[in-house]
Amino acid sequence: MSNSLLVCHGLRKVYREAQIETEVLNDVGFSIDAGELVGIIGASGSGKSTLLHLLGALDEPTDGDVFFKGQKLNAMNANKQAKIRNQEVGFVYQFHHLLADFSAMENVAMPLLIGGISADKAKSQAQSMLDQVGLSHRYEHRPSELSGGERQRVAIARALVNKPSLVLADEPTGNLDHKTALEIYDLMRKLNKESGTAFLVVTHDNELASKLDRCMHMQDGVLELVEGA
Ligand SMILES: Nc1ncnc2c1ncn2[C@@H]1O[C@H](COP(=O)(O)OP(=O)(O)O)[C@@H](O)[C@H]1O
Ligand SMILES: [Mg+2]
Repeated sequence: MSNSLLVCHGLRKVYREAQIETEVLNDVGFSIDAGELVGIIGASGSGKSTLLHLLGALDEPTDGDVFFKGQKLNAMNANKQAKIRNQEVGFVYQFHHLLADFSAMENVAMPLLIGGISADKAKSQAQSMLDQVGLSHRYEHRPSELSGGERQRVAIARALVNKPSLVLADEPTGNLDHKTALEIYDLMRKLNKESGTAFLVVTHDNELASKLDRCMHMQDGVLELVEGA
């Protein structure tokens, strides 16, 4: 328990529309230690994105709790949740969600500026983060001028620039070819080692999942823990 970064238990999510209830998560519970690289594998529609939204305080569970560093995330007020999302948790999505009108450097600097860091400092920290993801030669490029793999590198740099303790990555390589996907996994491993940031990575590729420390399986809203994947 002492080393647990994230703990959740009894998580349920039910969507209600008109008279119809859809149960998307059913009694999900697990924990992630600081510095772990963990995968969630599961078919499309099994509830993986819904789970990540609950873990990142982007949505509220119907039942159950999420504890982040021992604090109950779902009981915090919106300001405190927003602070955790900015400072403690990084997000990477399948589609990069970079701002089209801004350079790679400006995109990576954005979470620093939101966190109140001066423009000069934000610029130099963003550049050094881009160096770490192998994009020293792409500071001024806009997303449309980058390859798919490079865009995901920028998205990863943006997720890590505030030195979060956890990155939630939802199919970060779902849109990339296999070779580029493997490079992104190697990069996540390198950053995990260098910074000690824990990663929770959703994939439906078994080979990619095998590159992580361990893997959990999601099926129809039920999460099964798998030992030593
Ligand atoms: N806002 C919503 N309202 C109703 N059903 C939803 C909503 N969001 C997701 N779902 C349903 O929840 C299930 C799980 O979705 P999701 O978490 O996106 O799965 P995954 O990421 O594993 O593909 C799907 O059947 C989806 O249709
Ligand atoms: Mg999804």
